[in-house]
Amino acid sequence: MSIKFCEKTKTFFLDGKNISYVFSINNYGFAEHRYFGKTIGHDDLSYTDTVGQQSNMATVPGVDEFSSSYHRYPAEISFFGTGDYREPTVEVINASGDRLTELLYDSYEIIPVKPHKLGNMPSMKGGETLVLHLKDKITGFVCDLHYTVYDDVSVIVKRAVYKNEGNTSMILNRAYSFALSLPETDYEVMTLHGAWARERQVERVPLGHGTVSIDSKRTSSSHTFNPFMAVLTKGATESSGEAYGVSLVYSSSFVLTAEGTSDGQKRITGGINDFDFAWKLDAGEELVTPEAVIAYSCEGIGGMSRAFHDAFRSYLINDRFVNTKRPIVINNWEGTYFDFTTEKLKKIADGVVGTGIDTFVLDDGWFGIRNNDRSGLGDWFVNEEKMPGGLDEIIKHVNGLGMKFGLWFEPEMINEDSDLFRSHPDYAIGVLNRPRSYCRHQYVLDLTRADVRDYIVESVNKILKSHNIEYVKWDCNRNVTESFSFGREPERQAEFAHRYALGLYDICERIVESNPKVFFEGCSGGGGRFDPAMLYYFPQIWTSDDTDADERTKIQYGTSVVYPLSSMSCHVSAVPNHQTGRATTEATRAAIAHLGPTGYELDASAFTDDDRIRVKSEVEAYNAISELILKGDLYRTDSPFDGNFFTETVVSKDKCEAVMITYRCLAGVNNEIKRVKAAGLAPDKRYFVPELGRTLFGSTLMNVGWTPNYPRNDFGCVVYHLREVE
Ligand code: GLA
Repeated sequence: MSIKFCEKTKTFFLDGKNISYVFSINNYGFAEHRYFGKTIGHDDLSYTDTVGQQSNMATVPGVDEFSSSYHRYPAEISFFGTGDYREPTVEVINASGDRLTELLYDSYEIIPVKPHKLGNMPSMKGGETLVLHLKDKITGFVCDLHYTVYDDVSVIVKRAVYKNEGNTSMILNRAYSFALSLPETDYEVMTLHGAWARERQVERVPLGHGTVSIDSKRTSSSHTFNPFMAVLTKGATESSGEAYGVSLVYSSSFVLTAEGTSDGQKRITGGINDFDFAWKLDAGEELVTPEAVIAYSCEGIGGMSRAFHDAFRSYLINDRFVNTKRPIVINNWEGTYFDFTTEKLKKIADGVVGTGIDTFVLDDGWFGIRNNDRSGLGDWFVNEEKMPGGLDEIIKHVNGLGMKFGLWFEPEMINEDSDLFRSHPDYAIGVLNRPRSYCRHQYVLDLTRADVRDYIVESVNKILKSHNIEYVKWDCNRNVTESFSFGREPERQAEFAHRYALGLYDICERIVESNPKVFFEGCSGGGGRFDPAMLYYFPQIWTSDDTDADERTKIQYGTSVVYPLSSMSCHVSAVPNHQTGRATTEATRAAIAHLGPTGYELDASAFTDDDRIRVKSEVEAYNAISELILKGDLYRTDSPFDGNFFTETVVSKDKCEAVMITYRCLAGVNNEIKRVKAAGLAPDKRYFVPELGRTLFGSTLMNVGWTPNYPRNDFGCVVYHLREVE
């Protein structure tokens, strides 16, 4: 990696693994984008300036020269009020009420290793970093653009830090993280939309003239859209074409917009959602925006995904856990829901003895008065009536069986029917004298308040510190409505959604850091807050409340577009499936669940010896590929969004080992022949494929492929485990 500045052409060259990013400071002091893509040499790129006739274009303020216009410059940052009428990156209301800004070059510094956790925001670690100081000379408004590159991953990390170096307060009406200008060509935009139990469905639309925009207004990154957008050259596939992907390290309301103009320029911008946003910057204050991790690949969508996976595993996810063997859990949620006793839980734990399952997770319902979802949230003390002997009774039993114990919390929430609400109704988000909206019968705690955060940290830590708890599932089952914080000044109420994120990061940091031996799994009504900022704290996240194997092929495929398999928690559950009513075979449920840290979520209390033998062999099969799932490279070859099949191959970094899992949704009679092909292998290595009973070259497996013998029934899976032979 390297960041170089050429004085003569005033050009910055940022080189990461297989990528170059180039911009220069033009004659007017504006940071003009030149190039982002495959590695190039350090040439003077000023010859790429657009030429030709242009009219009706506003000049740079104060420069009555026809050729100068902010509209013409591919921007590193754009601001409102000049001749660039595209979506600005930033808009400021100055003391006089004018909304003008002109951010021009002031200075730069290159920092060998990125300063960590600016503004208490989770962010990527390490990496050489350029900080470009841009300034509005009239108001003293400053924007520092941060750019980080790494020598071993193909991403550039960008963020803006806005500062008020003037003497009077100003309001940030919009404060996005980045702008990314792209070469003029035809593109499509790929996003991941969804809903509860149907997360991260892949969608592609053309990028024409105008904007394609996604957002969340939910004070959560949300089920509805993942904070991710890719711009793909038209027709790009999993393995061909160019892909520029943006992933925001952010968990609150966000926006991402791609825009095409009449002259063919293309730009992506986004960050904190500016809808219902206004941030007051008093003199001397600053606002740190979320990081945008931007991946580039000329090997299609698959290459972009692998760039994200490597970047997140190497520089984002807690290195205490990222590469360690994950717990294989038995979770009682779908087994019992709220209807359990300590005796029942003990029987579930007993049921899996000898299978290799190593962690028992007690889900919702163990605290306060909580026999259904109408009460108890906020009261983080054990329900002794339901669990005589407290948590220690079940923990002792589970530990005695040689398993670890894990516990569910929903720290951000409160029920009206709780001791906490009865004593602190103002802790719940809402406006005095107005009814609040319920969602799952609960309200959200006001994490923008320090006293509320202290209550959460103290009550959760009290439980964690006084019991042998080695795993926590951190849930969050609803989004914010009636955004308002008691006690905050009226002019700062529109800071709410971002302040909620800062509050969330504060409690995550304090709870995770004070319990270094506890493994944390994130969750939000399934995968409703599956974002890089949450991954910073929680090395894995419950991918979806939909545990049906068929539905999971789509949910897991979509999730893997951005997130590594190691982050996608996947459980085998009972049939008929509780969400869809569908019955798939146990072999299929296990194979699909093995494409992530695996576990079980069912009532194991009635397990027979045969059940245990079956689960044991499934766990052994998972253990045999768990290193690949944690650290390997993912190649998707059949998309469940395109047809009847789902095929993924995971290859070790040294290309000595791989696993392919292929799934056929519906069986038929006299079917067309389906051929699968491996991907990502070394062409010259020879691999033994026990399931084919053959040793074949990587080149044969990738180019000729083979025809799987799918089980005769619907929803059948076949697994191939390839190992290099001499
Ligand atoms: C959410 C989670 C589930 C379970 C329930 C408990 O829906 O996604 O896995 O923990 O809450 O209420």
